[in-house]
Amino acid sequence: MSDKSVKMEMPGGAHDFPVIDGTVGPQVIDIRKLYSETGMFTFDPGYTSTASCQSAITYIDGEQGILLHRGYPIDQLAQHSTFMEVCYLLLHGELPAAQKLHDFTYTISRHTMLHEQLATFYRGFRRDAHPMAIMCGVVGALSAFYHDSTDITDPEQRMIASHRLIAKMPTIAASAHKYSIGQPFMYPDNSLSYTGNFLRMTFGVPAEPYEVNPIIERAMRRIFILHADHEQNASTSTVRLAGSSGANPFACIAAGIACLWGPAHGGANEAALNMLREIGTTKRIPEYIARAKDKDDPFRLMGFGHRVYKNFDPRAKVMKATADEVLKELNITDPVLDVAKELEHIALNDPYFIDKKLYPNVDFYSGVILNAIGFPTEMFTALFALARTVGWVAQWNEMISDPEQKIGRPRQLYTGATQRDYVPVSKR
Ligand code: ACO
Repeated sequence: MSDKSVKMEMPGGAHDFPVIDGTVGPQVIDIRKLYSETGMFTFDPGYTSTASCQSAITYIDGEQGILLHRGYPIDQLAQHSTFMEVCYLLLHGELPAAQKLHDFTYTISRHTMLHEQLATFYRGFRRDAHPMAIMCGVVGALSAFYHDSTDITDPEQRMIASHRLIAKMPTIAASAHKYSIGQPFMYPDNSLSYTGNFLRMTFGVPAEPYEVNPIIERAMRRIFILHADHEQNASTSTVRLAGSSGANPFACIAAGIACLWGPAHGGANEAALNMLREIGTTKRIPEYIARAKDKDDPFRLMGFGHRVYKNFDPRAKVMKATADEVLKELNITDPVLDVAKELEHIALNDPYFIDKKLYPNVDFYSGVILNAIGFPTEMFTALFALARTVGWVAQWNEMISDPEQKIGRPRQLYTGATQRDYVPVSKR
């Protein structure tokens, strides 16, 4: 806490509000006493100027294109780390020593199976159900199966629930895919890596051995690391808000999944690939650029723009390099990648996009990679949910252990009718 404060001139006199320093990043004005001292609220739809919590997990500098997890740059983690290591880092704050990493990996691998009765849940869904609809339902239903990890006041139970969620999410997502194509669910193989196991559960069949391609495994690992956490985005804030009432972790993560589904958030990777396919050829790019710039057309370039990154999205750079690597390995010449590269080039040189600081985000290239690996488009957001689960549980744990934590309860600027008397229907 700094000893600085800001003075605000308000009706009825001036008020001092403390200014708080983070370890890095903008200072914040502590307005917690604003209402009790002045009778006024602040108005900030979309929370563009509001810090909803304090957090030591992830730092983003949108102007500089910096993303740090517990201080470590995302490109270093994507290059050198494993997903299990990043999970440990997000949850516990430090990179694990070898034995700790081994123990953590072992613990996660012991939780990968689903309760057998959960398989019957899947059968209740239509075959053409969107995997995110299944994820919302099945993850929420975990609270009905794992009662021994829903006491949120017990740190040990909180950690068991966190491990369960990280471990079971690949099994849940892969089963959603298997259900939609009518193939049997695959049990996890704990001798494989987290990503290798997920690839096998998604693309393997019980009738044949499945060999994990190391290039695809590395690409998946990078995709998971790049999506692992992103501070107080919409779905993470949803998890925190749901958790602030004391709801159990499985219910909170189901709420996060629901929020992630939207095309302005996690659904953008699916929307971006659909858009690239619709454009189809580089010749049609100018038409779509013109539509994106037209104020009367609701069309937006999906995979472009970000609430926080106003320079570049550091995750997009790694993603673009990975797209090249995967397509080369699989010997695929995908016209969609040509459209993506040309669209990026044209948009980055167009004054509209330059002035509004619109750059490709993490979702612009991820769809191209996932498509090349063989995932159906509907699975893209489910993969994002899988990878983001560790971020959600890390943020949820941090919130529950925060002594200053309160139930989240925003206020509003009321614009409705003032008080009036009820009129019986016969007199209306
Ligand atoms: N294409 C064309 N114009 C855009 C785009 C886009 N993708 N994104 C923003 N703009 C324009 C807006 O029309 C607006 O113009 P105006 O000032 O003339 O009205 C201006 O840029 C600012 O846009 P806002 O919507 O106010 O910015 P905000 O920070 O609220 O939105 C968002 C960020 C939702 C990501 C937006 O850029 C968008 O819809 N992008 C496409 C969807 C997408 O890719 N989402 C993924 C985000 S990353 C993630 O969730 C992992």
